[in-house]
Amino acid sequence: MNVNNFRFKLGGKEFVPIMIGGMGVNISTSELALSAERLGGIGHISDAEVMYVCDTMFGTNYTAERRKLYIENGSNRDKSIEQFDLVQLAEAQKRFVAHTVNKKTGNGAIFMNCMEKLTMNNSSATLKVRLEAAMDAGIDGITLAAGLNLRTLDLISDHERFRDVKLGIIISSVRALGIFLKRAVRLERLPDYIVVEGPLAGGHLGFGPDDWQTQNLRDIFIETLDFLKKENLDIPVIPAGGIFTGTDATEYLQMGASAVQVATRFTIAKEAGLPKDVKQHYINAGDDDIEVNTASPTGYLMRMLKQSPTLQYGMRPNCEALGYLLDNSGKCAYIDDFYASFESRSADGKTNAKGHTCLCIGMARYDCWTCGQTTSRLKETTNRLPDGSWQLPSAEDIFHDYLLSENHSIRLPEIEKLP
Ligand SMILES: Cc1cc2nc3c(=O)[nH]c(=O)nc-3n(C[C@H](O)[C@H](O)[C@H](O)COP(=O)(O)O)c2cc1C
Repeated sequence: MNVNNFRFKLGGKEFVPIMIGGMGVNISTSELALSAERLGGIGHISDAEVMYVCDTMFGTNYTAERRKLYIENGSNRDKSIEQFDLVQLAEAQKRFVAHTVNKKTGNGAIFMNCMEKLTMNNSSATLKVRLEAAMDAGIDGITLAAGLNLRTLDLISDHERFRDVKLGIIISSVRALGIFLKRAVRLERLPDYIVVEGPLAGGHLGFGPDDWQTQNLRDIFIETLDFLKKENLDIPVIPAGGIFTGTDATEYLQMGASAVQVATRFTIAKEAGLPKDVKQHYINAGDDDIEVNTASPTGYLMRMLKQSPTLQYGMRPNCEALGYLLDNSGKCAYIDDFYASFESRSADGKTNAKGHTCLCIGMARYDCWTCGQTTSRLKETTNRLPDGSWQLPSAEDIFHDYLLSENHSIRLPEIEKLP
């Protein structure tokens, strides 16, 4: 028995039940998502910092233009005037999504991970633009994540694709699910799938500092199935977080999962966006190198490698250029930390903003090495090369291993010859 014995039925279609989770900022690249799509599964792109991502991919100048517009405000702690241009945001989003969906060649699908915590100094208006532009550009599905808000469905309820696009939510507790569903029932628009993310996942975690260590995915997953059964709701449930082998995935599918969402194994894929040397750090990481910390200014816990350069940042916030985490009054916890440490800087003039980090810059530069707990096992999944470095598997290698392996074995990629 392996994952290939199962299929994920969604909206009249059948998929291979492997979904590669969204990894911002541009870690789950178009190429990574398209590999899953080509193999019949579902790949996510992430719209985190989409204007910046467009600049790096297509040579547009959104970030530089925004910086120019607000440069005078750079030394002001109050960033409330620094709004995003909604027309440009829509343009960037459409371009980014179209670039990916227009390259589909398989029977799978391309979904977009949309983190609602990217409040962009005007949370409702920017979220509406992001979601509608993605639908306009032909995205197959949208997974609402980090900061799930009850009003989100209302924002897009008059869009022509509101009922046809696949909409999913990520939850980490049945309580959060219950609250969201109440609103969805009123709008007669239930989510098409529910990702249950446990405490071993990468990125931001939906748990508090006191409960992430005591909770486990299996229990929350079973509770979710029981809750849906009790409510007579037939919504596919997709567990995520720590599903490392094809057998882990098969066990969840046997327990009633419709598919699994996985990410950490793919962080080191050739197609993933992290720079090559950072992928080597991920593979070399041991358990002791991984921490769950409070460095994210969003207020959510985040899992990272302790060596992440972003944890050493003491730089001036660059909201003029990026500003994706500004709340609706132009504030971000990192700005407060930065100025507090700036005011108490040492005699040599050094500042070190302890506490939060500038995630906008850290993620954009691939300096925030967020990762799942199973990162310390990545070395089991590939070959060490004669020069001591690790071979980077292709997305297809990893996908096939999830699909076909049994008894918790991991099929290593074919050994690559060094040039
Ligand atoms: C490097 C990395 C970045 C991630 N970024 C995001 C993100 O931007 N948004 C999100 O909803 N989840 C994010 N996640 C969570 C994944 O989408 C996924 O649900 C989870 O990590 C699956 O568990 P696994 O990594 O143990 O396979 C990220 C995970 C990793 C490893």
